Amino acid sequence: AAVVEHTFVVKQVYMRHLCNDTLATVVNGQFPGPPVEATEGDTVIVHLVNESPFEITIHWHGVKQRLTCWADGAGMVTQCPIQPNSTFTYRFKVDGQVGTLWWHSHVSILRATLHGIIIIRPKSGSYPFKNQPHMDVPIIISEWWQRDLMKVDRNFSNGGDFSDNPAGATINGKLGDQYNCSGVVEDNFVLNVEHGKTYLLRLVNGALFSEYYFKVAGHKFTVVGADANYITPYTTDVVAIAPGETFDVLMVADAPPCRYYMATVANQPPLPDPQIPVFVSRGIVQYTDIPRADADRCRDQPPQMPEMPNQHDTMTTFYFHGNLSGLPTHPLLPQLRGRVDEHLFITLGKGTICREDKPSCKRGGSNEAIEVAYMNNVSFRLPEKMSLLEARQYGGNDMAVQELPTRPPSVFNFTDPALIPVGPGKPLEKLEATRKATTVRRFKHNATVEVVFQSTATMQSDSNPMHLHGHDFFVLAQGHGNYDPAKHVRTYNLVDPLLKNTVQVPRIGWAVVRFVADNPGAWFMHCHFEFHIAMGMATVFEVANGATPEDTLPPPPSDLPKCIHKKE
Ligand code: C2O
Repeated sequence: AAVVEHTFVVKQVYMRHLCNDTLATVVNGQFPGPPVEATEGDTVIVHLVNESPFEITIHWHGVKQRLTCWADGAGMVTQCPIQPNSTFTYRFKVDGQVGTLWWHSHVSILRATLHGIIIIRPKSGSYPFKNQPHMDVPIIISEWWQRDLMKVDRNFSNGGDFSDNPAGATINGKLGDQYNCSGVVEDNFVLNVEHGKTYLLRLVNGALFSEYYFKVAGHKFTVVGADANYITPYTTDVVAIAPGETFDVLMVADAPPCRYYMATVANQPPLPDPQIPVFVSRGIVQYTDIPRADADRCRDQPPQMPEMPNQHDTMTTFYFHGNLSGLPTHPLLPQLRGRVDEHLFITLGKGTICREDKPSCKRGGSNEAIEVAYMNNVSFRLPEKMSLLEARQYGGNDMAVQELPTRPPSVFNFTDPALIPVGPGKPLEKLEATRKATTVRRFKHNATVEVVFQSTATMQSDSNPMHLHGHDFFVLAQGHGNYDPAKHVRTYNLVDPLLKNTVQVPRIGWAVVRFVADNPGAWFMHCHFEFHIAMGMATVFEVANGATPEDTLPPPPSDLPKCIHKKE
């Protein structure tokens, strides 16, 4: 196995889009950032040099970090952030995973522009599918913001202003020719293909805000991997990808050689706010071997555009995710079918709490209260003095850490449309009071854990891509409406469930996952919509050390950043 070494310099640079020079915080001057390409079993070393004015951590999204929780990069969960003008070196192995993952910053909203792809290739040099790809094609879907992101972040955290929107979606950093300003058309990402060859599209949704649909006119996809796990190949002409998800997709260049648009559109819930723009972004698939007779036509006519799903179409993503299955051979499956040690039923919703400086406020509506997002009615608060992992390792901290409740405080009709907030202070008060706390859930080493995620109508029609660090979970079932064990336990797929690090919990619906807590550490578990994290839809799963040194988390690296205690 090799060592893959990078230096990531985080800096603010001006980037020009839509007639504006926008200051963006990026790695090595690039958006998206540099790729990390490795082979199964390799050691990855990244020296992070923070030349930005912000506190930074980098999270290696989906990398299991077996016994290297210190390198997980979740701010205030596994480490204190890297201060401006400071450095930290991340060291970890990529093992037991093949496919596509990604990295992104994990302190506040800066991940909008601080992210890039991680490619893990098989040790054997070949893939377990018939068509060996001719070429890897990263397709990173992101969003371009022209606002001050730190301000946007404060707005979310304060539950207030949701009028902040990105200027548009990007494919590999390009907005595409759908966008122009004063006649200046934005660049397209262009993929050159040769007729008959197979391309491995590595799709990453690095957006803060939205799930995206992705299509290429005139071409079909075979999905062969999800979150760096092989799946049962699935043929489709559309991929639905939520923030945090990755998909590996084979595309054979088998259309008449010409030019075709690839396009991505945000799947927006039918929000009450008609201001939410529709983001369609385009790139171009261009054959390099267009016959001479067609050359003029292919050059002069606009490329063929795929017919995109409607912006509010939620069923296409439901079926896309529901139709995928994993491989029946995973070594953890037998344990998964056995005894479940821990059952969690986690409601995902929004509530209101009083501002901390206004303890006397009446809940809801007044400007003394703010909207928060929660799990089982607790809105997560990051610790401020010490990371949870350091607290776990050394104890003796002064953090008021609470256990995440295993169920919501009361049972109600979670998906009753009457719960949808329609005006200031109205329906949220029907439910129990929300509180804010630093919560964790502690598991024994090797415990089998089942989590039922129940999205509630208080989310309005937001979906929830729920992501767990340090483990992949098996997705056993999903559905609309209220989860009911009497009906739904028998629908669990325990034969070939999909293995993922992010599960898209359907809008006003539920999903069930199971995993084996076999990686000691403190692992963030949260919704991957940035505004839901900022509003507190998160918790931390702490996994105990096992009995042997091989199952024990070693001490932290000596350069682990120290927390700086600031006065607000
Ligand atoms: Cu990509 Cu904590 O997430």
